[in-house]
Amino acid sequence: MKILTIETSCDETSVAIVEDGKYILSNFISSQIKTHQLYGGVVPEIASRMHAEKINFLIKKTLETRKRGFQEIDAVAVTYGPGLEGSLLVGLTAAKTISVALNKPLIPVNHIHGHIYSSFLTENTPCFPFICLVVSGGHTQLVLVKDHFNMELLGQTRDDAAGEAFDKIARYLGLEYPGGPVVEKESLNGNETAFNFPRAMLKHKWDFSFSGLKTAVIYTIKALEQAEKKVPVPDICASFQKTVIDILTYKAVMACKFYDIKTLVLSGGVIANKAIVSNMYSETLKNKIKLHYPEKNLCTDNAAMTGSAAYFQYKKDAVSNPFIRVEPNAKIV
Ligand code: KG4
Ligand code: ZN
Repeated sequence: MKILTIETSCDETSVAIVEDGKYILSNFISSQIKTHQLYGGVVPEIASRMHAEKINFLIKKTLETRKRGFQEIDAVAVTYGPGLEGSLLVGLTAAKTISVALNKPLIPVNHIHGHIYSSFLTENTPCFPFICLVVSGGHTQLVLVKDHFNMELLGQTRDDAAGEAFDKIARYLGLEYPGGPVVEKESLNGNETAFNFPRAMLKHKWDFSFSGLKTAVIYTIKALEQAEKKVPVPDICASFQKTVIDILTYKAVMACKFYDIKTLVLSGGVIANKAIVSNMYSETLKNKIKLHYPEKNLCTDNAAMTGSAAYFQYKKDAVSNPFIRVEPNAKIV
């Protein structure tokens, strides 16, 4: 089954064709980062306008890589939420139009389900049950995935998402948006034990909190500035990043052990961070837990992951919903 998929939940316009939830036949991602960098973060109004300008071109480009164009498409899938309302609306309108014109099913996909399925775009797919750690710019969640589309949300952040904390710290340090890749780069030259930032583990076992850490980092920078001392950017980045790594690794491994789950799946933009993956790798190895994570370009937003989720969702319930509306605050269960 070949699914044409559209993803426009935030600042990436992406169109893909995925076969049987596994094979990426085509996947184009047009990033708006360069534009939003000028403002230090995503400007929703600009994001939706840029999606509207790009979407037709990307659909055309995606189909042009295939010989039969629209003729080979069995269904159309689209992210309906969570995400920015105007951005989601552009993708949804395009997907609805194509599905009506082709008289093919329209499969609405939750963006977080997309991230979870980014590890299914490979031969070596995760075995059920598994724990999935979703760490993106908008979400930090621990999900127990029992089977295809049978999942339980174990915990999530009570305030900032992990990616958001990277973005805010970078902005405070005068680094560019998005913060994750630059903080990772600065950390390579820093000492991760230079500052001892708080590791909020919280009483509710599976929830996260990153706003206290963010405030502690900002107070540290302010104190250095007030004392007219040089702010050691690489050390701050490395110490902050190490704190995030410790929290994420501890919680994810603890959840696997508590539920006696032997597979951990990592997903979301923050997983593009090599230091996070390498720490997860050594900790899961120690605890005999199998680790899965997507290729770097499938960690951040892309339509291929959405196409994979769409396939498994449709295989389970065969529901086409041509009347779907955007849901900026859509929940995963
Ligand atoms: O999944 P994603 O592309 O979009 C959302 O659904 O939010 O994630 C974007 C987030 C941003 O906060 C960005 O700073 C973070 O992922 N990110 C990283 C890295 N690359 C992207 N965080 C840490 N290290 C990275 N290398
Ligand atoms: Zn995302």
